[in-house]
Amino acid sequence: MFPLATKGQCNFCHSLPPNEKSNGNLSMGEDKASAYAALVGKPSASHSCSGGTLVVAGQPDASLFFQKLSASPACGGRMPLGGDPLTPEQLDMIRSWISAGAKDD
Ligand code: HEC
Repeated sequence: MFPLATKGQCNFCHSLPPNEKSNGNLSMGEDKASAYAALVGKPSASHSCSGGTLVVAGQPDASLFFQKLSASPACGGRMPLGGDPLTPEQLDMIRSWISAGAKDD
């Protein structure tokens, strides 16, 4: 299950065209297909986190997408930037989805 349950907390910034200032060059688009294509196996294109991979299938702790949701990410700010942190249930859902191979389902 692709974790778009968090979409409402991210898309305000991450559905805009890629731009360093508004979204760290990460545009996830408006729907599941574009978000999946932007994330799984894709390298970071931001200044703060370049070198990382957004979603490493099977490895949540190596996935920048997951790290950025923790209280103190290794680079840049905690997402959602300026908003309330995701709930433990939402984090579990994302971790499980990545652990299970980040399938497009
Ligand atoms: C208010 C705007 C805003 C919101 C809301 C927001 N982000 Fe971000 N995001 C940014 C900016 C700006 C950056 C680049 C700076 C940084 O990394 O701190 C970024 C960077 C990222 C990156 C790293 C991108 C890269 O290639 O290095 C990820 C992953 C990310 N955000 C995920 C999310 C997720 C998931 C949510 C929702 C839970 C979210 N963001 C909500 C503005 C936002």
